Amino acid sequence: MPEKKPPDSQSFLDVVNKPFIVSNEDIVRSLSSVLNLDNIEEIRRKLRPIISTIYGSRNNSNQGPYNSPLERVLQVNVSDLEQVVNSFTAERAKHYVKRILKGITEQKTSKINDINLNRWKDYDYIITDSLWTFDKRERGEGHNAKYWGNFIPQIPHQLLLRFTKKGDWVLDPFMGSGTTLVECKRLGRNSVGIDLEEKAVELARENLKKTEDVYGSEIEAIISDNLEVNYQRLLEELGIKSFQFIILHPPYWDIIKFSENSKNFSNFPSMELFLDGLSRLAKLIRPVLEDRRYLALVIGDKYSDGNWIPLGFYSMQRFLEAGFGLKSIIVKNYDTTRGKKNSSELWRYRALVGGFYVFKHEYIFLFQK
Ligand SMILES: C[S@@+](CC[C@H](N)C(=O)[O-])C[C@H]1O[C@@H](n2cnc3c(N)ncnc32)[C@H](O)[C@@H]1O
Repeated sequence: MPEKKPPDSQSFLDVVNKPFIVSNEDIVRSLSSVLNLDNIEEIRRKLRPIISTIYGSRNNSNQGPYNSPLERVLQVNVSDLEQVVNSFTAERAKHYVKRILKGITEQKTSKINDINLNRWKDYDYIITDSLWTFDKRERGEGHNAKYWGNFIPQIPHQLLLRFTKKGDWVLDPFMGSGTTLVECKRLGRNSVGIDLEEKAVELARENLKKTEDVYGSEIEAIISDNLEVNYQRLLEELGIKSFQFIILHPPYWDIIKFSENSKNFSNFPSMELFLDGLSRLAKLIRPVLEDRRYLALVIGDKYSDGNWIPLGFYSMQRFLEAGFGLKSIIVKNYDTTRGKKNSSELWRYRALVGGFYVFKHEYIFLFQK
């Protein structure tokens, strides 16, 4: 007599068709079991239900390759699994399976970031092109647009992911409202920001309070003239040997006046003195950057007496002269500043009359020590 199945037990087909996959351990177990099989049909039978489970978790409106929440959690994507089941031989299928397993279980990272190169396809949100266009500013947690002249969080976000590891130390000598520091706190990097203006430092500290400390990052916001800081002593006080990344977002000389303080770069009496200030700063901070690590300079150009002044390139030149190697020039779209927003029509008219173009971009110069 055939054995009676208890009513609440699952049939074999139920189990196969709805595999219980909620973690990487589950998928590693399922994939590893395939490595003992020598028949391509058996391999397909084992993996197709997994594909349909993951695929089923996709949002129908999104058809991109990495758009299933389950795929993200599992660190595996459907197209990789499809490559396995579409193989013609068990040998080839197992070759692909081994590659997927390697991507999940082994980390291959460089010295300067935490990007797992075995899973490089998963980092589609990290920009590798030199043209950056963002349609809106990210907000929330400690990020806001309260400080006139602050940069959008996407700038430090992208740079920190590419050029730092968790636990690295980041220096921002033109801290402003602390956008870099907030992003460091969010991403588990330690950081020091310096600004001459008390109101900027207060705002930075306020923004940092609104940011959750998930990783226990050490963050310092200091009031000082960045040209008067003893950077070697700063390292000693922090108990570290060097910084692993430096980001500089100076005033674009006199475009925005940040205060009346004559030590503020925005009040330097001539462009030459502004550039000399950058040269001095470059020489001061170069020794405290770890060898082979990166520095980013975010700056735009300006108009003066109807002529385009390439302030960005003049500034870049000062960092080259200080001994940094140029790795990239990124052009980023530039949102209309608050001051110009109300008068954008007027600017368009002026541009048409005066034979010039309205600024819509700025630069991120990327250097390596
Ligand atoms: C363009 S803003 C930086 C904005 C910042 N990235 C943010 O997101 O808030 C430049 C900042 O450099 C500061 N600054 C100018 N000269 C300085 C100096 N000599 N020492 C320290 N900070 C200075 C200004 O006060 C201003 O806050």
